[in-house]
Amino acid sequence: MSEPTSPSSPTPGASADTMTVRGGVPVEGELVIRGSKNALPKMMVAALLTAEPCTLTNISTIRDIEVVDELIRLTGGTVEHDADRIRITAGSFTALGEVDVERLHNASRIPVLTTAVSLHRTGEAVVAAPGGCAIGPRPVDFHMSVLRALGAHDDHRDGMIHLRADRLHGARIDLPFPSVGATEQFLFAAVLAEGDSELANAAIEPEILDLIAVLQKMGALISVEPNRTIRVTGVKELGGFEHRVIGDRLEAASWASLALATGGAITVRGVQQQDMSTFLNVYRRAGGDFTIDADGRTISFRRARRMLRPLALETDVHPGFMTDWQSPFVTALTQAEGVSVVHETVYEDRLGYTEALRTLGAQIQVFTECLGPTRCRFGAANHRHSAVVVGPTKLHGAELVVPDLRAGFSYVVAAAAADGESVIHGVGLLDRGYADFRSKLSAIGVDHS
Ligand code: EPU
Repeated sequence: MSEPTSPSSPTPGASADTMTVRGGVPVEGELVIRGSKNALPKMMVAALLTAEPCTLTNISTIRDIEVVDELIRLTGGTVEHDADRIRITAGSFTALGEVDVERLHNASRIPVLTTAVSLHRTGEAVVAAPGGCAIGPRPVDFHMSVLRALGAHDDHRDGMIHLRADRLHGARIDLPFPSVGATEQFLFAAVLAEGDSELANAAIEPEILDLIAVLQKMGALISVEPNRTIRVTGVKELGGFEHRVIGDRLEAASWASLALATGGAITVRGVQQQDMSTFLNVYRRAGGDFTIDADGRTISFRRARRMLRPLALETDVHPGFMTDWQSPFVTALTQAEGVSVVHETVYEDRLGYTEALRTLGAQIQVFTECLGPTRCRFGAANHRHSAVVVGPTKLHGAELVVPDLRAGFSYVVAAAAADGESVIHGVGLLDRGYADFRSKLSAIGVDHS
């Protein structure tokens, strides 16, 4: 699967995909952050719900865009790119065949989100059964329950799920966990379904609220209740839109963590303070500091104290501390004086990167127990989802292989903070979520080649 993948794990020594970092120097500089990786491709999918032209601005050059571009062309639509704009017109839509489904679903997590679109526009859809990936198995069972409740019939054969529906209809659904993807699948399905739908225990991440803003521009009727419930009244058709995508708060937090780990200072432009407020609180508690401009869109991060403070950290769905912030930030915690405790509650296997950090000298141990206030679903299942970090540790250069997107960035953080030279293989995976990351590293003074 896309952002987390491992099947295409790089071969050590494949030079285009290998980066050497000479670390140990505080970073300093300013970066512009563009459209969110976890919002932009979904808005491209939304554009397939209408035959009218749709325009997106504040575009990031990330791998998922190419995957959705290809998907749009294969289903009969057109995509035009210029400097900071994508224009999509899906005048017609043909369901993808099994071969394309298998290839695209293996390349990215986004194509599965076109299932509801395909059902609306053709009455059928095919989904490749999900494989494992570096941060866990990433199943699609919640997506399928949502579609079934709204009237789709599914049939499993040859590793594929075939779905059919003459017309989706409204239903009330309760998610077992506030899944981002299943909430998006619900939105795409319910906006054009017949009647009213309700999703309880929905995800309410800022990227989803921005997607809802897009759907509202298209003519959808959606309300988000205070108790994580989303209500939708289906409409007969949707129209085109123009939308500026929100800035990527995951990328911003990654660079902020790099500043913290190296004792440097980084200014990020193009994000929203409100979307990062949980991260900002934790950053300050750990001994980082920041200033924010009047409109909350430019944040200057720096380390406020020579020695960082340890803390207890638990990842959660919004408005909690995001799982995608976890690995770069925990890497910075190797420089805190004392014992930090980390509890990952969103993915069962998102601490694998800590093993690589140990080769740079970090003292991190991983546990199967829930080391945090929440008894999460991974404790009883024996997943290694909690960590204890003892610091500060002097990091030194090492050779690393990137297993997934966020772990990959945490290796860059560790290598930039470490004395000496590190060689990171598989950095191509970072292109999936960090637009122009090599030139951004140069802009903040990280010595790399
Ligand atoms: N889950 C199921 N069944 C499902 C769907 C999800 O069990 O049908 C489980 C997952 O296995 C996971 C949890 O529910 O344990 C949450 O998964 P969710 O559906 O929320 O994640 P997603 O939509 O697949 C998006 C982002 C991830 C981000 C998560 C959580 C995109 C393309 N990906 O994934 O981003 O971590 O939400 O916020 O939007 C990343 O950017 O590095 C990344 C992995």
